[in-house]
Amino acid sequence: MYRAGRVLGITALAPAPGQQVLDLGCGTGLNFPLLQQRTGPSGTIVGIDRSARMLDLARRRAAKAGWDNTILIQADAAETDPATIAAIIESQGGKGLSDAALATYALSLMPEWRKTWAHLTELLRDEARVAVVDMQDPVGWARVLTPLARAACSLGGADITAHPWQAVEQTCNSIVRDSARAGHLQIRAGTLPQAGRRNAGRAASGK
Ligand SMILES: C[S@@+](CC[C@H](N)C(=O)[O-])C[C@H]1O[C@@H](n2cnc3c(N)ncnc32)[C@H](O)[C@@H]1O
Repeated sequence: MYRAGRVLGITALAPAPGQQVLDLGCGTGLNFPLLQQRTGPSGTIVGIDRSARMLDLARRRAAKAGWDNTILIQADAAETDPATIAAIIESQGGKGLSDAALATYALSLMPEWRKTWAHLTELLRDEARVAVVDMQDPVGWARVLTPLARAACSLGGADITAHPWQAVEQTCNSIVRDSARAGHLQIRAGTLPQAGRRNAGRAASGK
């Protein structure tokens, strides 16, 4: 059900070989195989999650696959100062600022997702690519499935009305839009503007 969004999100993100990609709310690392295919052994995957249990499973996944280019960080992405996270990444051999980032089915779990988004952008270099994959009510013929979709989301702790891909729409350039599963899965990817323009946009929107 949810793999489709993952595949479309990473396709839209299009990370290049050798790049460092940040996977925000990485969970058990289900995105890692698709990211590794793109970035290769010279790239780096940085997984951030607040759950030690999820990260343990992600660590096992990386070990089993033999990926030694994966950095896993336990942190609350809304609460942790981005400078602290950048310092941890550097202390583990990565770059403080990443080339790309994605958040799949993660921001809708974070009540303060706008704050998390602002933190995320501070961990990215100018003109980095960023992708958000998340859920909304199904549309068209599939509207009948709305109660099912809502129940599944609330069971997992997600707010189906959050629509966090708005941040990509509001902040980025060169936006790619996609959807799957009768509109239930929404995919947005874009390019962050240079930091100065990004900060000006944030100030203008009062965030
Ligand atoms: C539904 S899972 C999605 C995991 C993964 N992105 C995927 O596509 O399979 C959401 C993840 O976000 C993490 N999470 C929720 N709030 C967080 C926060 N404030 N900071 C960091 N991680 C968070 C959870 O621990 C969980 O692993």
